[in-house]
Amino acid sequence: MASLDTLFEAAKTIQAKAYAPYSRFKVGAAIAAPDGRIFTGCNVENAAYPVGACAEGGAISAMIAGGANRITEIVVMGEGDLLCTPCGGCRQRIREFASPDTKIHVAGPEGIRKSFTLEELLPFSFGPDNLTDR
Ligand code: THU
Repeated sequence: MASLDTLFEAAKTIQAKAYAPYSRFKVGAAIAAPDGRIFTGCNVENAAYPVGACAEGGAISAMIAGGANRITEIVVMGEGDLLCTPCGGCRQRIREFASPDTKIHVAGPEGIRKSFTLEELLPFSFGPDNLTDR
């Protein structure tokens, strides 16, 4: 199992690689998978603003490409003094591969600022069960 310290460092390392020339707001995300591997992603913006991609989505793509499909926990690191909680779309993206009690750690460069469960950030969520339980 990857330690939270290791996951934090991975998020910090990938945050530095973000391509965010428009918002100037770099984000890094690091996912711990059940087998101990870590998958990372950063935001990648675009001159056509709406087609930019969030860090969490990039980390999830790396996870799936790497053959894993469960999120044990995730660290999201943004800039500034406020909590960089995942956007609404990314809460749903995380939800696909997580459980209600999966931890989402929100970090700044100095460390983890606050930890949430997925259930706290996305209560009464819609998920795969909604499509099969019919
Ligand atoms: N962003 C993320 O990558 N993840 C978040 O959780 C919040 C926002 C990105 C999107 C955009 O590139 C920049 O941060 C400003 O919104």
